[in-house]
Amino acid sequence: MNKPKVLVTRNIFPEWINYISDNSELDLWEDELPPPRDVLLKKVKGIDGILCLLTDKIDSELMDIAGPQLKVISQIAVGFDNININEATKRKIPVGNTPDVLTSTTADATWSLLMAAARRITESERFVHQGKWKTWHPLHFLGQDIYKSTFGIIGMGRIGYEVAKRAIGFDCKIIYYDVNRRKDLEEKLPLEYVDLKTLLINSDIISLHTVLNDDTYHLIGEKELNLMKDNSILVNVSRGPVVDSKALYNALLDKKIWAAALDVTDPEPIPNDDPLLKLDNCLIVPHIASASYKTRYEMSKISAENLINGVNKKSLITCVNPEVNY
Ligand code: GLV
Repeated sequence: MNKPKVLVTRNIFPEWINYISDNSELDLWEDELPPPRDVLLKKVKGIDGILCLLTDKIDSELMDIAGPQLKVISQIAVGFDNININEATKRKIPVGNTPDVLTSTTADATWSLLMAAARRITESERFVHQGKWKTWHPLHFLGQDIYKSTFGIIGMGRIGYEVAKRAIGFDCKIIYYDVNRRKDLEEKLPLEYVDLKTLLINSDIISLHTVLNDDTYHLIGEKELNLMKDNSILVNVSRGPVVDSKALYNALLDKKIWAAALDVTDPEPIPNDDPLLKLDNCLIVPHIASASYKTRYEMSKISAENLINGVNKKSLITCVNPEVNY
Protein backbone atom coordinates (compact mmCIF):
# COMPACT_ATOMS: atom_id res chain seq x y z
CA MET A 1 0.00 0.00 0.00
CA ASN A 2 1.26 3.51 -0.78
CA LYS A 3 2.35 5.44 2.25
CA PRO A 4 0.70 8.83 2.86
CA LYS A 5 2.69 11.80 1.55
CA VAL A 6 3.66 14.43 4.09
CA LEU A 7 5.58 17.68 4.05
CA VAL A 8 7.45 18.79 7.18
CA THR A 9 8.57 22.38 6.80
CA ARG A 10 11.51 22.36 9.26
CA ASN A 11 13.59 19.97 11.31
CA ILE A 12 12.16 18.89 14.63
CA PHE A 13 13.65 16.42 17.15
CA PRO A 14 15.21 13.53 15.15
CA GLU A 15 13.22 10.84 16.99
CA TRP A 16 10.04 12.43 15.70
CA ILE A 17 11.37 12.90 12.18
CA ASN A 18 12.14 9.16 12.25
CA TYR A 19 8.65 8.40 13.50
CA ILE A 20 7.17 10.44 10.65
CA SER A 21 9.41 8.89 7.98
CA ASP A 22 8.63 5.36 9.25
CA ASN A 23 4.95 6.09 8.77
CA SER A 24 4.87 8.16 5.60
CA GLU A 25 6.60 9.24 2.45
CA LEU A 26 8.35 12.25 3.94
CA ASP A 27 9.45 15.44 2.24
CA LEU A 28 11.50 17.32 4.86
CA TRP A 29 12.53 20.95 4.36
CA GLU A 30 15.85 21.00 6.23
CA ASP A 31 16.89 24.62 5.81
CA GLU A 32 17.01 26.90 8.82
CA LEU A 33 14.84 29.46 7.03
CA PRO A 34 11.24 28.78 5.98
CA PRO A 35 10.55 27.50 2.47
CA PRO A 36 9.88 30.49 0.20
CA ARG A 37 6.21 30.80 -0.70
CA ASP A 38 6.62 29.56 -4.30
CA VAL A 39 8.57 26.51 -3.10
CA LEU A 40 6.03 25.78 -0.40
CA LEU A 41 3.19 25.95 -2.93
CA LYS A 42 5.03 23.53 -5.25
CA LYS A 43 5.77 21.11 -2.43
CA VAL A 44 2.23 20.88 -1.06
CA LYS A 45 0.75 19.55 -4.33
CA GLY A 46 -0.71 16.11 -3.66
CA ILE A 47 0.31 15.82 0.01
CA ASP A 48 -1.89 14.13 2.62
CA GLY A 49 -0.57 16.11 5.54
CA ILE A 50 1.65 19.01 6.48
CA LEU A 51 3.60 19.72 9.67
CA CYS A 52 4.10 23.47 9.68
CA LEU A 53 5.40 26.35 11.78
CA LEU A 54 4.02 29.75 12.61
CA THR A 55 6.31 31.16 9.89
CA ASP A 56 4.41 29.27 7.17
CA LYS A 57 1.26 30.90 5.82
CA ILE A 58 -1.38 28.21 5.46
CA ASP A 59 -4.24 29.85 3.59
CA SER A 60 -6.96 28.87 1.13
CA GLU A 61 -4.59 29.21 -1.85
CA LEU A 62 -2.24 26.67 -0.30
CA MET A 63 -5.08 24.30 0.61
CA ASP A 64 -6.46 24.52 -2.95
CA ILE A 65 -3.07 23.80 -4.46
CA ALA A 66 -2.48 20.91 -2.03
CA GLY A 67 -5.70 19.30 -3.26
CA PRO A 68 -8.78 17.63 -1.79
CA GLN A 69 -6.77 14.66 -0.39
CA LEU A 70 -5.16 16.96 2.26
CA LYS A 71 -6.21 15.39 5.56
CA VAL A 72 -4.36 17.27 8.28
CA ILE A 73 -2.51 20.46 9.13
CA SER A 74 -0.30 19.94 12.15
CA GLN A 75 1.23 23.06 13.62
CA ILE A 76 4.18 22.88 16.00
CA ALA A 77 3.04 25.81 18.18
CA VAL A 78 0.09 26.63 20.36
CA GLY A 79 -0.80 29.76 18.34
CA PHE A 80 -2.23 29.31 14.86
CA ASP A 81 -2.82 32.81 13.49
CA ASN A 82 -0.79 31.83 10.39
CA ILE A 83 -3.48 29.27 9.46
CA ASN A 84 -6.88 30.07 8.03
CA ILE A 85 -8.90 27.86 10.35
CA ASN A 86 -12.26 28.66 8.71
CA GLU A 87 -10.94 27.52 5.34
CA ALA A 88 -9.53 24.34 6.88
CA THR A 89 -12.83 23.62 8.65
CA LYS A 90 -14.81 24.25 5.44
CA ARG A 91 -12.67 21.57 3.79
CA LYS A 92 -13.04 19.27 6.83
CA ILE A 93 -9.31 19.39 7.53
CA PRO A 94 -8.47 19.13 11.24
CA VAL A 95 -5.75 21.49 12.45
CA GLY A 96 -3.52 20.30 15.27
CA ASN A 97 -1.50 22.49 17.63
CA THR A 98 0.68 21.93 20.71
CA PRO A 99 -0.99 23.47 23.77
CA ASP A 100 -0.40 22.55 27.44
CA VAL A 101 3.15 21.18 27.05
CA LEU A 102 4.49 24.69 26.60
CA THR A 103 2.38 26.49 29.19
CA SER A 104 4.76 26.40 32.15
CA THR A 105 7.87 26.92 30.05
CA THR A 106 6.31 30.01 28.48
CA ALA A 107 5.28 31.32 31.89
CA ASP A 108 8.85 30.81 33.14
CA ALA A 109 10.13 32.71 30.10
CA THR A 110 7.69 35.55 30.79
CA TRP A 111 9.18 35.86 34.24
CA SER A 112 12.74 35.67 32.89
CA LEU A 113 12.03 38.55 30.54
CA LEU A 114 10.25 40.53 33.20
CA MET A 115 12.98 40.13 35.80
CA ALA A 116 15.70 40.93 33.28
CA ALA A 117 13.88 44.10 32.18
CA ALA A 118 12.97 45.20 35.71
CA ARG A 119 16.57 44.87 36.93
CA ARG A 120 18.26 45.91 33.66
CA ILE A 121 20.14 42.63 33.45
CA THR A 122 20.95 42.63 29.71
CA GLU A 123 21.88 46.30 29.74
CA SER A 124 24.21 45.94 32.73
CA GLU A 125 25.68 42.74 31.34
CA ARG A 126 26.59 44.59 28.13
CA PHE A 127 28.16 47.29 30.32
CA VAL A 128 30.45 44.75 31.99
CA HIS A 129 31.41 43.08 28.70
CA GLN A 130 32.24 46.48 27.21
CA GLY A 131 34.77 47.07 30.02
CA LYS A 132 32.78 49.96 31.51
CA TRP A 133 32.51 48.65 35.09
CA LYS A 134 34.75 50.95 37.14
CA THR A 135 33.17 50.92 40.59
CA TRP A 136 30.13 50.15 42.73
CA HIS A 137 27.89 53.19 42.61
CA PRO A 138 24.73 53.87 44.67
CA LEU A 139 22.96 55.27 41.62
CA HIS A 140 24.01 52.84 38.91
CA PHE A 141 21.50 50.61 37.11
CA LEU A 142 18.52 51.35 39.31
CA GLY A 143 15.55 49.22 38.38
CA GLN A 144 12.00 48.47 39.44
CA ASP A 145 10.90 46.09 42.18
CA ILE A 146 8.60 43.28 41.21
CA TYR A 147 7.64 42.12 44.68
CA LYS A 148 4.41 43.65 45.99
CA SER A 149 3.76 45.28 42.62
CA THR A 150 0.41 45.39 40.88
CA PHE A 151 0.62 42.79 38.16
CA GLY A 152 -1.77 43.19 35.24
CA ILE A 153 -2.40 40.20 33.01
CA ILE A 154 -4.16 40.65 29.69
CA GLY A 155 -5.49 37.29 28.55
CA MET A 156 -6.21 34.89 31.41
CA GLY A 157 -5.78 31.65 29.48
CA ARG A 158 -3.49 28.76 30.38
CA ILE A 159 -0.27 30.79 30.14
CA GLY A 160 -1.70 33.90 31.80
CA TYR A 161 -2.83 31.74 34.70
CA GLU A 162 0.63 30.15 35.13
CA VAL A 163 2.20 33.61 35.08
CA ALA A 164 -0.28 34.68 37.78
CA LYS A 165 0.59 31.64 39.93
CA ARG A 166 4.24 32.70 39.91
CA ALA A 167 3.27 36.29 40.83
CA ILE A 168 1.75 35.03 44.09
CA GLY A 169 5.24 34.09 45.26
CA PHE A 170 6.28 37.70 44.72
CA ASP A 171 3.40 39.03 46.86
CA CYS A 172 1.94 40.82 43.86
CA LYS A 173 -1.61 42.08 43.61
CA ILE A 174 -2.93 40.45 40.45
CA ILE A 175 -5.51 42.10 38.25
CA TYR A 176 -6.54 40.77 34.87
CA TYR A 177 -8.54 41.57 31.80
CA ASP A 178 -9.91 39.04 29.34
CA VAL A 179 -12.90 38.99 27.02
CA ASN A 180 -14.20 36.23 29.30
CA ARG A 181 -14.24 36.69 33.04
CA ARG A 182 -12.68 33.54 34.58
CA LYS A 183 -14.62 33.02 37.80
CA ASP A 184 -13.38 29.41 37.85
CA LEU A 185 -9.80 30.68 38.12
CA GLU A 186 -10.74 33.42 40.60
CA GLU A 187 -11.76 30.62 42.94
CA LYS A 188 -8.25 29.18 42.82
CA LEU A 189 -6.11 32.34 42.96
CA PRO A 190 -6.60 35.88 44.23
CA LEU A 191 -7.31 37.39 40.80
CA GLU A 192 -9.29 40.56 40.37
CA TYR A 193 -11.16 41.03 37.11
CA VAL A 194 -11.02 44.62 35.80
CA ASP A 195 -11.69 46.40 32.53
CA LEU A 196 -8.77 47.15 30.22
CA LYS A 197 -8.57 50.82 31.15
CA THR A 198 -8.44 50.08 34.88
CA LEU A 199 -5.72 47.53 34.27
CA LEU A 200 -3.64 49.94 32.20
CA ILE A 201 -3.93 52.74 34.74
CA ASN A 202 -3.12 50.66 37.81
CA SER A 203 -0.53 48.08 36.82
CA ASP A 204 3.20 48.29 37.48
CA ILE A 205 3.69 45.30 35.22
CA ILE A 206 1.54 44.39 32.23
CA SER A 207 1.95 40.98 30.67
CA LEU A 208 0.25 40.09 27.39
CA HIS A 209 -1.12 36.58 26.85
CA THR A 210 -3.83 37.03 24.24
CA VAL A 211 -4.25 35.33 20.91
CA LEU A 212 -3.82 37.49 17.82
CA ASN A 213 -7.05 38.18 15.97
CA ASP A 214 -8.87 41.21 14.55
CA ASP A 215 -9.89 42.29 18.06
CA THR A 216 -6.42 42.07 19.60
CA TYR A 217 -4.46 43.60 16.69
CA HIS A 218 -2.78 46.73 18.18
CA LEU A 219 -4.65 46.20 21.44
CA ILE A 220 -1.82 48.18 23.00
CA GLY A 221 -1.40 51.40 21.02
CA GLU A 222 -0.67 55.04 21.74
CA LYS A 223 -3.84 55.61 23.76
CA GLU A 224 -3.25 52.57 25.95
CA LEU A 225 0.45 53.31 26.45
CA ASN A 226 -0.48 56.85 27.52
CA LEU A 227 -2.66 55.41 30.26
CA MET A 228 0.13 53.27 31.69
CA LYS A 229 2.26 54.32 34.66
CA ASP A 230 5.66 55.84 33.99
CA ASN A 231 7.31 53.13 36.10
CA SER A 232 5.51 50.34 34.25
CA ILE A 233 6.99 47.42 32.35
CA LEU A 234 5.23 45.84 29.38
CA VAL A 235 5.97 42.19 28.64
CA ASN A 236 4.83 40.61 25.39
CA VAL A 237 5.10 36.86 24.86
CA SER A 238 1.89 36.64 22.80
CA ARG A 239 2.19 37.93 19.23
CA GLY A 240 4.03 41.01 17.97
CA PRO A 241 1.06 42.74 16.29
CA VAL A 242 -0.86 42.85 19.60
CA VAL A 243 1.34 45.90 20.28
CA ASP A 244 1.66 48.87 17.92
CA SER A 245 5.47 48.92 17.62
CA LYS A 246 5.73 52.57 16.57
CA ALA A 247 3.64 53.69 19.52
CA LEU A 248 5.73 51.49 21.80
CA TYR A 249 8.93 53.03 20.49
CA ASN A 250 7.61 56.54 21.19
CA ALA A 251 6.39 55.59 24.66
CA LEU A 252 9.77 54.07 25.57
CA LEU A 253 11.73 56.96 24.09
CA ASP A 254 9.62 59.57 25.89
CA LYS A 255 9.72 57.50 29.10
CA LYS A 256 5.93 57.29 29.18
CA ILE A 257 6.50 53.73 30.27
CA TRP A 258 9.67 52.47 31.92
CA ALA A 259 10.62 49.40 29.91
CA ALA A 260 9.41 46.69 27.58
CA ALA A 261 10.44 43.06 27.28
CA LEU A 262 9.48 41.42 24.01
CA ASP A 263 9.65 37.80 22.97
CA VAL A 264 7.69 38.68 19.84
CA THR A 265 7.89 41.60 17.43
CA ASP A 266 6.09 42.95 14.40
CA PRO A 267 7.45 41.97 11.94
CA GLU A 268 9.46 38.89 12.87
CA PRO A 269 12.36 38.80 12.71
CA ILE A 270 12.75 42.43 13.71
CA PRO A 271 14.73 44.29 10.99
CA ASN A 272 18.29 45.21 12.03
CA ASP A 273 17.52 48.91 11.59
CA ASP A 274 14.36 48.89 13.71
CA PRO A 275 14.58 51.84 16.15
CA LEU A 276 13.42 49.64 19.05
CA LEU A 277 16.84 47.96 18.90
CA LYS A 278 18.49 51.25 19.79
CA LEU A 279 16.69 51.59 23.11
CA ASP A 280 18.30 50.40 26.34
CA ASN A 281 14.89 50.07 27.94
CA CYS A 282 13.63 47.59 25.38
CA LEU A 283 14.74 44.01 25.81
CA ILE A 284 14.09 41.80 22.79
CA VAL A 285 14.64 38.07 22.34
CA PRO A 286 13.87 36.04 19.19
CA HIS A 287 10.53 34.36 20.00
CA ILE A 288 12.01 31.74 22.32
CA ALA A 289 9.44 31.53 25.10
CA SER A 290 8.73 27.82 24.61
CA ALA A 291 12.34 26.93 23.82
CA SER A 292 13.37 24.46 26.50
CA TYR A 293 14.67 21.03 25.49
CA LYS A 294 11.83 19.24 27.23
CA THR A 295 9.08 21.42 25.84
CA ARG A 296 10.34 21.49 22.26
CA TYR A 297 10.70 17.69 22.45
CA GLU A 298 7.08 17.39 23.60
CA MET A 299 5.97 19.82 20.89
CA SER A 300 7.82 17.72 18.31
CA LYS A 301 6.11 14.58 19.61
CA ILE A 302 2.58 15.97 19.61
CA SER A 303 2.90 17.60 16.20
CA ALA A 304 4.36 14.40 14.71
CA GLU A 305 1.59 12.29 16.25
CA ASN A 306 -1.09 14.73 15.11
CA LEU A 307 0.35 14.55 11.59
CA ILE A 308 0.45 10.76 11.40
CA ASN A 309 -2.92 10.36 13.12
CA GLY A 310 -4.42 12.84 10.66
CA VAL A 311 -3.11 11.24 7.48
CA ASN A 312 -4.59 7.95 8.74
CA LYS A 313 -7.89 9.69 9.52
CA LYS A 314 -7.44 9.04 13.23
CA SER A 315 -8.33 11.56 15.89
CA LEU A 316 -5.74 14.31 16.50
CA ILE A 317 -4.56 14.54 20.12
CA THR A 318 -5.04 18.31 20.15
CA CYS A 319 -7.24 19.94 17.56
CA VAL A 320 -8.23 23.58 17.21
CA ASN A 321 -11.30 22.80 15.08
CA PRO A 322 -12.66 19.73 16.91
CA GLU A 323 -15.87 19.81 14.85
CA VAL A 324 -13.88 18.25 11.99
CA ASN A 325 -11.51 16.05 14.04
CA TYR A 326 -11.60 12.37 13.03
C1 GLV B 1 4.64 30.16 19.92
O1 GLV B 1 4.56 31.34 19.82
C2 GLV B 1 3.50 29.31 19.94
O2 GLV B 1 2.41 29.76 19.57
O3 GLV B 1 3.65 28.13 20.34
